Amino acid sequence: LKKIGVLTSGGDAPGMNAAIRAVVRSCAYHKVDCVGVYRGLQGLIEGDFKELDARSVKNIINRGGTFLKSARSKEFRTAAGRKKAFNNLQSENIDALVVIGGDGTFAGASRFAEEFNFPIVGIPGTIDNDIHGTDYTIGYDTALNTVVEAIDKIRDTANSHNRLFLVEVMGRDAGDIALNAGIGAGAEEILIPEQNMGRERLLESLSRSKKSGKTSSIVVISEGDKSGKNIFELAQYIEENLTEYEVRVTVLGHIQRGGSPSCYDRVLASRLGVGAIDAILRGETNVMIGIVHNKVVSVPFSETITGNVEMDKELIRVADIISI
Ligand code: F6P
Repeated sequence: LKKIGVLTSGGDAPGMNAAIRAVVRSCAYHKVDCVGVYRGLQGLIEGDFKELDARSVKNIINRGGTFLKSARSKEFRTAAGRKKAFNNLQSENIDALVVIGGDGTFAGASRFAEEFNFPIVGIPGTIDNDIHGTDYTIGYDTALNTVVEAIDKIRDTANSHNRLFLVEVMGRDAGDIALNAGIGAGAEEILIPEQNMGRERLLESLSRSKKSGKTSSIVVISEGDKSGKNIFELAQYIEENLTEYEVRVTVLGHIQRGGSPSCYDRVLASRLGVGAIDAILRGETNVMIGIVHNKVVSVPFSETITGNVEMDKELIRVADIISI
């Protein structure tokens, strides 16, 4: 095995640069050449490659985003696109690939690995924390801290004006960001797709808290939650039914994907990057390198993309109790 390619694909996440750095330096340590593939799986199809050595990844451990750029490639879903990608890998003499991304990336990579019998190892990089077989994904911890910092600021103004704020956070179909940031930021209610609370119960809960003496409130809503057509419609519904509330909406959006990675994400990314090269050198393929009970593990791609898991009941209970 002489040459390994590395790419980032799908939605970017803080800590992706730290993961690339670990992959590149691990290759240098084991005296294997490393090639960066720009713009994810799309760059693989277009042959957008550049040799990377240990010094090419200096001064990036602290930077958000991904210097290799990222893309969501439609063409990679076609047989013709994947064939082009395979031809490029062959003409570049690349023997194996590390892909850093989320479930969409793993689905494409897994298919490719089987189709062409090509060694691929994945690293979970997404703020959503929605990949099975790993306790944490790279970028999740940073995103949580960004959300908590933003909600702390919202709390100041909510409190000054005795207002109710609905704050929408990312996570696609997963409520991990909402639930954990909601607990960390002291939210009144947390709406997540895994546990459909329903809008009537939300009204009951909000009027109870008004009666108990609360003057302002924050409700954290995961973007995948279906309690309203959208967060603005839900805000209108609350104002119409609970006239004592003045409601405002904040959609945090892509701010959650940017920023310097937290120390946790940098360390996680470094461990998974080294783990991915170790796995390739052991001859593993079609697996993701994850972290379970603080140990680096490898998990078949097929087990990483199996739909939603049930949300941790203990966490939900904690959220309920501390918001009384
Ligand atoms: O998967 C990361 C994520 O930020 C999700 O939380 C969100 O639903 C989606 O990506 C947004 O995608 P895009 O950046 O393509 O709009």
